[in-house]
Amino acid sequence: MTEVSQGEWSGWRAAAEAALYGADGLYRGAEGPAAHFRTSVHASPLFARAVARLLCRVDEALGRPAALDFVDMAAGRGELVAGVLAALPADVAARARGYAVEIADRPETLDHRIEWLAEPPKGVTGLLFANEWLDNVPVEVAEVDSAGVPRLVLVRRDGRERLGEPVSGAEAEWLARWWPLPAEEGLRAEIGLPRDEEWASAVAAVDRGLAVAVDYAHTADTRPPFGTLTGFRQGRETAPVPDGSCDITAHVALDACTLPGGRVLTQREALRALGITGARPPLELASTRPAAYVRALASAGEAAELTAVGGLGDFGWLLQPVGVPDALLREPPGAGLLVDVPDHEEQ
Ligand SMILES: C[S@@+](CC[C@H](N)C(=O)[O-])C[C@H]1O[C@@H](n2cnc3c(N)ncnc32)[C@H](O)[C@@H]1O
Repeated sequence: MTEVSQGEWSGWRAAAEAALYGADGLYRGAEGPAAHFRTSVHASPLFARAVARLLCRVDEALGRPAALDFVDMAAGRGELVAGVLAALPADVAARARGYAVEIADRPETLDHRIEWLAEPPKGVTGLLFANEWLDNVPVEVAEVDSAGVPRLVLVRRDGRERLGEPVSGAEAEWLARWWPLPAEEGLRAEIGLPRDEEWASAVAAVDRGLAVAVDYAHTADTRPPFGTLTGFRQGRETAPVPDGSCDITAHVALDACTLPGGRVLTQREALRALGITGARPPLELASTRPAAYVRALASAGEAAELTAVGGLGDFGWLLQPVGVPDALLREPPGAGLLVDVPDHEEQ
């Protein structure tokens, strides 16, 4: 193809915005975005049950309000909110209101009680939960040139790149504060400023309760020297090409997103505090209750995937309490309600 047919050069933020969310973008297409990602939500129903348990803790901290909100932020097809509502005990479920906030269209089969919105509802009392949202919020990419100056990376629809203007203004300040680049040609960083802003505006929708962002993350001491911008097509990693044919994502600087009072822990720590340990069921169960043993073994396998080192367990959970104490994930693990055998049979 000629250079002209590939269109203009632009920064990665505008290019990814058009490729994902533009009129003919990936997330607007007939196929929808779901074919391109598989998250913790799809890995196991244990994840939604753990989030339901967290919602119950928020409910307690709020003094059991008459209406308890659960907002599935960037909900995909709404699987998390559906799973959370289904896993609540009856007394909480009776007061719970479920919302899915999503750019893509509402799936026809979604439970009609779940409200489908383009923006978070105002005045949330409860839990706002954003699983793998911020990594899909487009950002600019900076690269150090031969003179040691960080410049914006420009890209065309075919994925070809060249360097543009030096990074300046609020973006330069963000880099200096959160991702300082040594003067070494080729080093790269993603400028997370739009994610900080999107997260702050989602948290502002919560009147009282907790906001949680879960994502592939890095912090100041673990920034990758060449960034993490990448593509996914049909679940497989591929070069990021902003033509609407693949998902475009980059890990999130969750420490930069954190507002006062918030903190980041790993998914492994968070799920452990919510009763998911991945421990295998006791072998005796195999002879006394073989069906329960097989179910518990399958659950243990799924829990292991959700908490795996080098996998989903390394994800960051950014907890942002609003008007409630920050004790929600400090409690010891529960009594194993998330595994399908009675408590007394678990070790
Ligand atoms: C990787 S998917 C995660 C879906 C779901 N949370 C899950 O864990 O399976 C990211 C989703 O974020 C949605 N999204 C991105 N920006 C959004 C925004 N500003 N408001 C609502 N949804 C958004 C996309 O449409 C996409 O469905």
